[in-house]
Formats: sequence, structure tokens, C-alpha cells
Amino acid sequence: MEKYITTPIYYLNGLPHIGHAYTTILGDVMKKFEQMRGNSVYYSTGTDEHGQKNQHSIEESSLSAEDFLKERSDNFKNLFVDLGIDFDYFVRTSKPEHKKIVREILQDIYDRGLIVKKSYEGLYCEGCEQFKKKSDLDENGCCPDHKVAPKAISEENYFFKLEPYRQWLIDYIKSHPDWIEPQNYANEVLGMLKSPLDDLCISRPKSRVWLGVELPFDSDYVTYIWFDALVNYISTLNFGHNPDFNKIWENSHHLIGKDILKPHCIYWPIMLHALGINPVKHCFVHGYWIGEGGVKMSKSLGNAVDPVEVINMLGVDALRFYLINNMTLSGDSQVSIDLLKQGYRMLANNIGNLQMRVLKMTQKSLEGKVPSPLAMNDGDKKLLNDISAMFSRVYSRDMDLETTGELAASIIKAGDMTNAYFAANEPWVLAKNPDQRGRFEAVVYTTLEALRLIGLAMYPLTPATTAKILQSLGIESPVFKADFTIMKLKEGTLIKVGDPLFPFVE
Ligand code: MSP
Repeated sequence: MEKYITTPIYYLNGLPHIGHAYTTILGDVMKKFEQMRGNSVYYSTGTDEHGQKNQHSIEESSLSAEDFLKERSDNFKNLFVDLGIDFDYFVRTSKPEHKKIVREILQDIYDRGLIVKKSYEGLYCEGCEQFKKKSDLDENGCCPDHKVAPKAISEENYFFKLEPYRQWLIDYIKSHPDWIEPQNYANEVLGMLKSPLDDLCISRPKSRVWLGVELPFDSDYVTYIWFDALVNYISTLNFGHNPDFNKIWENSHHLIGKDILKPHCIYWPIMLHALGINPVKHCFVHGYWIGEGGVKMSKSLGNAVDPVEVINMLGVDALRFYLINNMTLSGDSQVSIDLLKQGYRMLANNIGNLQMRVLKMTQKSLEGKVPSPLAMNDGDKKLLNDISAMFSRVYSRDMDLETTGELAASIIKAGDMTNAYFAANEPWVLAKNPDQRGRFEAVVYTTLEALRLIGLAMYPLTPATTAKILQSLGIESPVFKADFTIMKLKEGTLIKVGDPLFPFVE
């Protein structure tokens, strides 16, 4: 079955940060998880290249718009490649293919009589690229997200009426309880739908915003950034020109941060409904990464975590694992270089040490070959069966945010179980007693086999580490499938003691 997973597309007014890295890693983990289950996934991510925010950054730079956007977009793309992200399509809203579909959709909605022109006076927050009501602002009259007072703007614009669709959307949310997950965000959307919805301003005059898709029915205007950006999810599938569109869209999953709940769960489903398309199948919403101690991350506070710095210091897999393991479901989560180092040491002590100890023992006392499982007892088999059952259970769950967290937790648990087993069976003592040769071999076999299961289960989270673990066990062409049948490691296979999986860092 083909699934379609998307991330938000990122603005280019800054460099990619840990929040962007997280959502994109999450999508990759979900893709690999599904592939392990035998499902094929089409994964898209990319950059949002229009609007006033990007326009200001271009104006402040010495580059042409085209060069600026290319350079900044490449920063994201290159980071995602470095993070091991296997995206199938990289969106750039400046691509003509995308712009064409935005214009087709606008024309369609316009022809259906759903767009009206009127003059409007309002408060505009450039950070959100949205008009704000007084009730949206904090006690200082500022946007609560951007801490800046919105500008009073008066202009003629085109509007799309949302209110006629409000009851339909409320009913849809209530009749599709797993549409928005976790549930608290669905409740938040229902809260937003309690009062009538304002008309959505879908244009910006070119005199103010020149970076955008020109309206097909008025060349003095460009399209509102959100109306343009949301369309990426279907322009990627070549909507309107792809006979298989509906089949793929039926299985689509959006990943978003909580900051963009309203555009994704109010504007977007209504836009789609107006076009006669169903909403996305699932919208998975995650919280924010904040600094250690619960402070917002910012360059001025010096607590911003740069993903490139983390990769250079701790490697890609430790970052991937930390972010998936530590994102809480209901709220925000903390990250700092120190916390990431703690996460790294936990992996080193748990999985790294286990691998090194058992491999060195196999090298030293068993001629570097997987020993015989013949003398395995009930305790040995129980360890492998328990680990196998735990991983099979996780891999049989639906793919969502809870499952990815559960996957990370199950890896740590299996590592703890195997470490405890290894310590309790004292193979280093058994090794010295020729009468215990069979038991010694069985304990080492069991540990190596547990390591194989752990390595395999880790694949979506830490693909490079999985490859190293499986190669160290002499498995040359591993098959990344969620098959946790035990006793697959073949006696006599040559193991390889390589470098530590998570070498010591200061
Ligand atoms: N361009 C819009 C999205 C359009 S999608 C059709 C946008 N871009 S953004 O660059 O501001 O990135 C937003 C997304 O980045 C968030 O929804 C979230 O996925 C991620 N994050 C940005 N900061 C974040 C944190 N501090 N923590 C976690 N993720 C956050 O909005």
C-alpha cells in the first residue's frame, strides 16, 4: 500500500534549526518504519519560498531573489541529506510546476463564486503572515508568538468565505476522532471553531508583496502565502493532472508543529472541501522543542541548538534517537547540547557497550565466530522471545507519534534486558571453565542474537548504527523487514569487531 507523508515546507528567512530537523527526521522515521512493515511510502519535504518574510530577507541580502532562494533552500536540502533523510520529493514553491497548480486551484475556486473582493482594515503580523484580531494579541498588544505589535493595514483584497464550512468541519472532526492526533490538538481546533470564522484574505497587493504567485484573475495581486504553501501537498502529486491522485491522497499523512494548527486544520480542509477533495487522512501534531529548563530557544539567549553542530559532535544517529525518544506527546520538550550528550552516553552505555563486550568476547574466546546455540536453556530462550514479542508488538501498531516514541523506548528496554542477562550469566566466568563450554557458547549466542534483533528494530531511528551492528554480526546483505523471528544468526558466521558505535566524547 502506498502511503504519502509530508512535512511542513520551511521558510527561508533563517537557517534550518532543530525544530525543522525534528519534523523532517520524524517523517523519515515513519517512512522507514512503514517500509520495515512492507509498505511503500512517498515522502515529501521542502521549502516555502514566497511571502513577505522571505521577501524582506532577500531585500536585506546582496543576492538576487533566485540566488538567495536557491542558496537557502539548498541549506535545508543538504542538512536533510546529512541527516540521512530519504525524501522522495523536495518541494520548492518557486518551481513553475507548483505555481501552475496554485493558479489552477485559485481559478477553480474563483469560478465557483467563492472568492470576493472587498476593502479591509486590520492588524497584520508579518511573522505569522496573518491578519490578527485584538483578541489574538497579548497584554502588550503584540503577537504572542512573535512578540511584535502587528501593523495596521488598510487595503483592497480578495477573500474566501470560511464560515459556510464551519459546521461541516466541526462534524468532520467529531466523526473522525483520529483525524488530528494527539487528541488535545483536535480539541484545540474545535475550540477555534466555537465562534464564527472570519473571511480568509487570500491575496496581497503586489505594491506590498512582490514575492508570490500572481492571482490568475487579477495581475495586481499575488496569492496569500498560506494559500500557496498548503497547495504544495497536492501539487507534489500533480493534482488535476494525475489519474492516481485520489488513491494516494486517501493515504496521506501531514506532520506539523502545533504553531501551524490553524492553517492545516481549518483553512486547508475547507479549501479542499471547496474543491471537492477529502481532508488529509491524518494530521499528526507535535509540540515545540524548547531549551533546557523550559526556556524558549533563541540565538540571543545562546541556547539555540544547531543541528549541524550536533551532527559534527555526536553524529546523526544520536541526534535522531534523542529527538524521537524525548518528544513528549502532549506538550513541549527540552533539548540542549548537554541533554543531547546525556542521550548519547545512554546509547553508548546501553547498546554501544553491549555490542563491544560481546564482540570482543567472541573474538577472544570463540575464534571470532558465532558459537553454537545448542545448550540454550529456558532463560536464554525467554530473553529472545520477550525481545522478539516486544518488537513485533511495536511494529504491529499504527504509525503515529506515540508509536515512534514507543519504538525508541523498546530499544532501550531491550538493551537493558540484554545487559542484565549478560551480567547475570557471567559468560567471562563460564569461559574459564571447560565443563561449562556449552553454556558459555549458548550465552554468547543469545547475546549476539539479541543484539541482532535490537539492531534490526533500531533501523528507522538509527539507520547507520543498524548497518554497523548487522555488519559486525557478519550479516552482509541485511534485509530491513520487521521480522523478529529468533535464532536466525548462523553458527560459525565470522563477526567483526569494528570501531565503537558511540565513541567517547568530552
Ligand atoms: N512555511 C510554513 C509552513 C507551511 S506548510 C504548508 C512555516 N514554516 S517554518 O519554517 O516556520 O517551519 C514551521 C515548522 O517547523 C513547524 O510547524 C514545525 O514543524 C517546525 N518547527 C519550527 N520551530 C520548532 C520548534 N522549536 N520545535 C519543534 N518544531 C518547530 O511555518
